Amino acid sequence: MGSKNPSSLHAIRGTFLDFINDPFYASDADSVRYISDGLLVVENGAIADFGTYDDLHNRYANLPTETYFNKLITPGFIDTHIHYPQYEMVAAYGEQLLEWLNKYTFPTEGKFHDYAYAQKIAALFLDELLKNGTTTALVFATVHPQSVDAFFEVASRLNLRMICGKVLMNRYAPDFLTDTPQRAYEESKKLIQKWHNNGRLLYAVTPRFAITSTDEQLRLAGQLLQEFPDVYLHTHLSENLQEVEWVAELFPNSKSYLDVYDRAGLVGKTSVFAHGVQLTDEEFQRLSHAKAAISFCPTSNLFLGSGLFKLHTAKSATMPIKVGLGTDIGAGTSFSMLQTMSEAYKVVQLQNQSLSAFKALFLATLGGAIALSLDDKLGNFDPGKEADFVVLDPQATPLMAVRNQGFPAKSREELSDQVFGTLMLGDDRAIHAVYVAGTLAHQK
Ligand code: GUN
Ligand code: ZN
Repeated sequence: MGSKNPSSLHAIRGTFLDFINDPFYASDADSVRYISDGLLVVENGAIADFGTYDDLHNRYANLPTETYFNKLITPGFIDTHIHYPQYEMVAAYGEQLLEWLNKYTFPTEGKFHDYAYAQKIAALFLDELLKNGTTTALVFATVHPQSVDAFFEVASRLNLRMICGKVLMNRYAPDFLTDTPQRAYEESKKLIQKWHNNGRLLYAVTPRFAITSTDEQLRLAGQLLQEFPDVYLHTHLSENLQEVEWVAELFPNSKSYLDVYDRAGLVGKTSVFAHGVQLTDEEFQRLSHAKAAISFCPTSNLFLGSGLFKLHTAKSATMPIKVGLGTDIGAGTSFSMLQTMSEAYKVVQLQNQSLSAFKALFLATLGGAIALSLDDKLGNFDPGKEADFVVLDPQATPLMAVRNQGFPAKSREELSDQVFGTLMLGDDRAIHAVYVAGTLAHQK
């Protein structure tokens, strides 16, 4: 990994929790890795070694070491669906999806033709992500190419692993927010050439959703994926009933909402579909077969009254689908992935199922990395991966200090209870420190 500059070698000592398997399909014993006194060795931004302090400390006796007492260190959180231009319009009152878009979202996104404004919001947005322990996100920009430039410039300065893309939309939106199929194709292509794999940055071809793109525009999006097979496809899918009905009217030849994207060549292993609340079993099956991912966005689905995502179907053994968690700011109401896990738990409860603390945390870390095909680089503490991690304080508030008074846990069962308490009660106050590529990027 990179040069052998010894000064970049350092270590973190503390209590570590990550996943080495998917707890939806493997037992906790086979998926949860808990090291109550561990050492994480970092070199040139990557994990060089990881294990118990007992096993490793002799080998790394002279390394500069930061020790965290009574904290829980997890991989950085991964937000698999969020809109940076919607930073300023979180908590827009009273509407469901289609009215919400027209009344609040489109006017706000119109401001992003202004590069300086876009940069200002991108900086605020990324600061908020870091404060909440989110180190990687799959991000919508707006239709303006300069909104993508602004976002990537700021993300690059912070050395973050971020995925973003210009929104494609050529109908059913105000004139100031529409492009044409050809222009969208050309602008996206230029942005891919400029930003994809530029440092830690990656590009996503981003048609907003089936309603705002013609067949021709979707087809050209598919052509981009053929020309650049490792770029992402990021869009919305089957979120709201009225939306699904309208898509059926607009695309009478397609057999389902997903089929609209499928016919354009947009359903593959680098595709990430936000929501999927209204999907049929047949569509779930197709996503599973295509190895495409869904971003489950509980605070957004509740806020817009969209419905309850069937996580148990998406994570069934018979048709497993890659699932990550998304905040979907600004339809979502919190930047906090802890709060997002908490709301995911409640969405699952309302369907008479349960979501364990470990499963929720998996979705926010390794599960998100798998959904974004980044599990070779991120998601747990395996040596060779990038050293993005969060130092959580399970006793961050007086209430949490009492709720989690036994921290650190002596058993996996006790740990599960403490993590659950942290997800339910935690927010940015519980984010003690955040490391990006091995460097301290935020401290409370
Ligand atoms: N569907 C199309 N655009 C959007 C958006 O901006 N937010 C959400 N939640 N759904 C969408
Ligand atoms: Zn969205």
